[in-house]
Amino acid sequence: MNILFLGDVVGKVGRQIVDDQLSFIKEKYKIDFTIVNGENSAHGKGITTKIYKNFKNIGVDVVTLGNHAFSKSEIKLSINECKDLVRPANIEPLNVGNSVIVKQCKNKTIAVINLCGKVFMDACIESPFDAMNKILSKLKADIIFVDLHAEATSEKVTFFEYYKNKVTAVVGTHTHVQTADERIKYGCAFITDAGMCGAYDSVLGRDIEEVFDLNIRKIPSRFKPAEGPGILCGVVISIDDNTNRATKIERIQIRP
Ligand code: FE2
Repeated sequence: MNILFLGDVVGKVGRQIVDDQLSFIKEKYKIDFTIVNGENSAHGKGITTKIYKNFKNIGVDVVTLGNHAFSKSEIKLSINECKDLVRPANIEPLNVGNSVIVKQCKNKTIAVINLCGKVFMDACIESPFDAMNKILSKLKADIIFVDLHAEATSEKVTFFEYYKNKVTAVVGTHTHVQTADERIKYGCAFITDAGMCGAYDSVLGRDIEEVFDLNIRKIPSRFKPAEGPGILCGVVISIDDNTNRATKIERIQIRP
């Protein structure tokens, strides 16, 4: 079983490169199951129902989110219709959507969990460890995949070390910069951050001049997503069909 995970899709450029490249990547890596982080897919913040449906139409199995999960308020009302959209278990509002999604693939059950980190993250109302313990106490699945949407590398590594015997993969998101620390330990795949799908010539997918405006020139700025050619980042995780444990994790990047 090969699982593809694509990191934070930022705005139109990110959506376009995923649209353009997904079928090629799925064929090249013999992908059975695809997960995409869509938390920045709607103009850099949040997701809409329309964007979620497009991800589904192009062959994404599950879409994960993060601290901007509910930035577009429309999604709060329609999230129950988006059955393969997983929201972080530890941000408010807690009463909409699912923080665990269990899907069937090749006679296996795959659980996809989304959590936010607590370190340097305002949105998080509960430690990802406390939230994860609650989820695991009720969860049964052959393969458990966690998208840990967090700022601090230390928190992501700690999470992986703590849960490596209980889950199949811990993939970090949110920083938009792919790290080169992918590894397998005790059959669990890990990378601190999968990177982003968005404009290559940008500040984490945002327009460079707009970031200068806010951070240097002290001019209000909306941090709009950058335009231009895109970069696509993610990982492919291979899982042994007999043991349900990860055997390989490979970083992928398509640059302009
Ligand atoms: Fe984020």
